[in-house]
Amino acid sequence: MAAVRVAPVTLLRGTLQVPPDKSLTHRAIMLAGVSGREVRVGRPLDSADTGATLQALEDCGVAVTGHLGDAVRITGRGLRGLRPPPALDCANAGTLMRLFSGILVGQRIDHVVLDGDESLRGRPMTRIARPLRAMGAQIFTAPGGTPPLVVSGGAPLRGIEHHLEVASAQVKSCLLLAGLFAEGTTWVHEPVPSRDHTERMLEASGVSVLREGGAVGVAGPVEGLALPDMEVPGDFSSAAAHLVAGALLGDPEVRLEGVNLNPGRTGLLAVMRRMGVEIREEPGAPVAGEPCGTLSVSRTDDLRATEVAPHEVPSMIDELPLVGLLAARASGTTVVRGAAELRVKESDRIASVVRALRGLGVDAQEREDGFAVAGGAGIRGGSMDSVGDHRLAMLGAVAGLVSREGVSVGDFGAVAVSYPGFARDLAALGAVPA
Ligand code: S3P
Repeated sequence: MAAVRVAPVTLLRGTLQVPPDKSLTHRAIMLAGVSGREVRVGRPLDSADTGATLQALEDCGVAVTGHLGDAVRITGRGLRGLRPPPALDCANAGTLMRLFSGILVGQRIDHVVLDGDESLRGRPMTRIARPLRAMGAQIFTAPGGTPPLVVSGGAPLRGIEHHLEVASAQVKSCLLLAGLFAEGTTWVHEPVPSRDHTERMLEASGVSVLREGGAVGVAGPVEGLALPDMEVPGDFSSAAAHLVAGALLGDPEVRLEGVNLNPGRTGLLAVMRRMGVEIREEPGAPVAGEPCGTLSVSRTDDLRATEVAPHEVPSMIDELPLVGLLAARASGTTVVRGAAELRVKESDRIASVVRALRGLGVDAQEREDGFAVAGGAGIRGGSMDSVGDHRLAMLGAVAGLVSREGVSVGDFGAVAVSYPGFARDLAALGAVPA
């Protein structure tokens, strides 16, 4: 898609219902597809990523009525009833490829090839393939440990105890899902807890999830799942772009309603507060077993630099690029450490964030495991490219609003991966992308 130019604005104000959560939508579709009942998922995210997941389930014989963005009724085929075609397209979605592999290894199938776009083809899959093989599964990667994956099902699986080197909800979820089919208990230890959406949804579906010390486990084999009808709450990661824009331009305030406030997702709040931003949090009723509420934020003129420590990274992994924008306006040097995982996201987000910020006049430096931004001078503006990464496209648009000269964002269309209505929502707050 062509470049979009985002002009500076003097203020943003208003209230938004942010789009439904991407992580929860992927999981709801998958667990509904292997439930033993018809499940209504209300307000599932309509995006390229979640569309790929719905298509994958339909390709496996799951009957679906309704539409993403509104509501879907998914007639589950039971835990072992999927009928995959020879190949499934995971598009740009790492969550789909990693979580669904954990389900596919438990199906009575010959083999299925899981592939994706150029970005997904560069992402590490050994982190799921190796432990799944230790469980007895047949799963193979391309030579570099990347997609395409070849997954065979039906081999007897046994529970394992696996220690993750890097916290990853995707890997943890993949192994817990495979654990549903395994003889014995599958335990996953994480150095720092990652988002626990899968655990909550499994529990709601009737599976007892074990927690001991820092480990989480499931005892298999499980006979069946019954995901209850559910609504998908708003996505904190999508809210984060408006939260940062609001911290820089909110007057009197930017208010974000119905946001999922799972503590495994909201690390950005603590970091922003340390930088001097006042964020008001009004808790609401839980949705789908997830804490939810309203966030509001106003313009903060005297931002202070901060250090993001390694233990904070998992709870704000997708929001770290946005920290670069706050840092550009803060006094002092902000440093993000322990975030090497950013190098294997939809793009190498250490390289792509630093390149984008530097191109807009910000003093940003790459570190092996993060980045540093010397702030104070703000954002001049200019042009940057999303490199096909949705989080970079959003970063560019917010940068444009707070810049002196505006920002032209190349391949802005990448936002469709998680937030197709992003430009419309920015406009509703008073920003007008051209
Ligand atoms: C996700 C987990 C995170 C995150 C990704 C979605 C999920 O990845 O970056 O966008 O839905 O579980 P990792 O858990 O692999 O860090």
